[in-house]
Amino acid sequence: MATATAQTPKREAFGSRNVFILSAIGSAVGLGNIWRFPYVAYEGGGGAFLIPYLCALLTAGIPLLFLDYAIGHRFRGSAPLAFRRMHRAAEPLGWWQVLICVVISVYYAVIVAWAAMYTWFSAQLTWGPGNENDFFFVDFLQSADVAEVGVSADFVPQVGIPLAVVWLGVIAIMALGVKRGIGRANMILMPLLTVMFAVLVVQSLFLPGAMDGLNAFFTPNWEALADPGVWASAYGHIFFSLSVAFGIMVTYSSYLKRKTDLTGSGLVVGFANSGFEILAGIGVFAALGFMAQAQGTDVAGVASSGIGLAFVAFPTIVSQAAGGSIIGVLFFGALVFAGVTSMISILEVIVAALQDKLGWGRLRTTLTVSIPLAVISMALFSTTTALSVLDTTDAFVNAFGIMAVALVAVVVVAWVLHKLPALQEHLNRRSSFRVGFIWKLLIGALAPIVLGYLLISELITKISEPYSGYPDWFLAVFGWGMVIALVVIGVLLSLVPWSRRSHAKDDPEYDEFLDQEEYEPDLETGMLPVQGAKDEEARA
Ligand code: ALA
Repeated sequence: MATATAQTPKREAFGSRNVFILSAIGSAVGLGNIWRFPYVAYEGGGGAFLIPYLCALLTAGIPLLFLDYAIGHRFRGSAPLAFRRMHRAAEPLGWWQVLICVVISVYYAVIVAWAAMYTWFSAQLTWGPGNENDFFFVDFLQSADVAEVGVSADFVPQVGIPLAVVWLGVIAIMALGVKRGIGRANMILMPLLTVMFAVLVVQSLFLPGAMDGLNAFFTPNWEALADPGVWASAYGHIFFSLSVAFGIMVTYSSYLKRKTDLTGSGLVVGFANSGFEILAGIGVFAALGFMAQAQGTDVAGVASSGIGLAFVAFPTIVSQAAGGSIIGVLFFGALVFAGVTSMISILEVIVAALQDKLGWGRLRTTLTVSIPLAVISMALFSTTTALSVLDTTDAFVNAFGIMAVALVAVVVVAWVLHKLPALQEHLNRRSSFRVGFIWKLLIGALAPIVLGYLLISELITKISEPYSGYPDWFLAVFGWGMVIALVVIGVLLSLVPWSRRSHAKDDPEYDEFLDQEEYEPDLETGMLPVQGAKDEEARA
């Protein structure tokens, strides 16, 4: 058993279970809920989309959330450490998740920066009536076509400067650590976000035409349910939205005390996230109903895709509604708060992984991780071709990053390492909601089938025609090249030796946990699960 040395920094922890729950909700509720969900839902058949959405939540989202909690809490580590403790050869899975977070963090920050600028623009109505589309694409982003100019290095200061400020703010929170930084930021920002959002939704509901918007959102288009693509988008959305399968919940749950109700917390987080999402749908479509009425058209004519919905349609509503500035400040302010609380969770996956591997202190690791990321983020996303790079990396990392790692992880955990019974036992030891055979069936059978199907259909779509019509060289670098690099670099990082001062070698609390021998023997092997873990530790 490893013994503690004076140099090893003590592993951090959340102040309480409530802070953990709030932080997990803060991570889940993000840009995905506010500008992505309403459009995905509308496109997927309006009210009828709630059926595939709820199925995806109950059969994949929440079961995988439980799995992430069980892995992070049982093996008490960042994604690479937790997977390594599960089995030495599983470490690359953790690094793959870390690298997915690297990619997401660099583009996530820029959307938060846009939202911050739009909070300010809303107060001034800077764009001028009728000019919302050109203002966003031409005046603000100064968008250029990658097919014509290649990847540009032309700096756009009105994006670059707020982006630098977002990074500075987030780095400051991260440097303070889990309890004083992440926990406290969520304790402040989440109640503020909830109040702002509630006021926004109520205000939207009183706009003339709001009911037409709600009718468009909630009137079921039953035919859409026969389209497998609609089911695919519901399942695809739920992973990003709940922050599952890319290391976040593994990392956050590793900061929980031993005696914690894991599944009870998971249910609160899962339903709070969906509640927020449906509320966002109501607020956004009530506002779109108003916009449609003001323009004498129907809601279908004004509902547009993610970025467009937030940064073109919403400014139009702000220009036209009485008290529009307030609606704009609330909407874009909510996007900033929701974005920041998610972004810190994404960065924490990377910081925690390096801290575990190298045994460094918080400040040193935070700066070593965040400064290069901020530089990459500024270099790629404060230029005139930012939008194309963002669109491509987001689409590819979701399909071939998050969904691919989720598929490999469930197959490895369930079928290669046979860890589901031990993880089920771990979840049930102290949880109010017990998981049983159905959980194992959903993780071991349904999730691989659904994820496998989604992945193959995404592959066929993206191979058969160039994504969004971008040039082949561009997709080869920012699409295919990027997703392949995540796997290759992930394997290479797993080959780097663990520092002698790392938490892998020196974590008295984990050793203590292994010593408790409080598990029942595994019925299949007759072995205590802790003994299996101890044997692996001894070999490591
Ligand atoms: N779960 C976060 C979101 O929805 C990442 O944006």
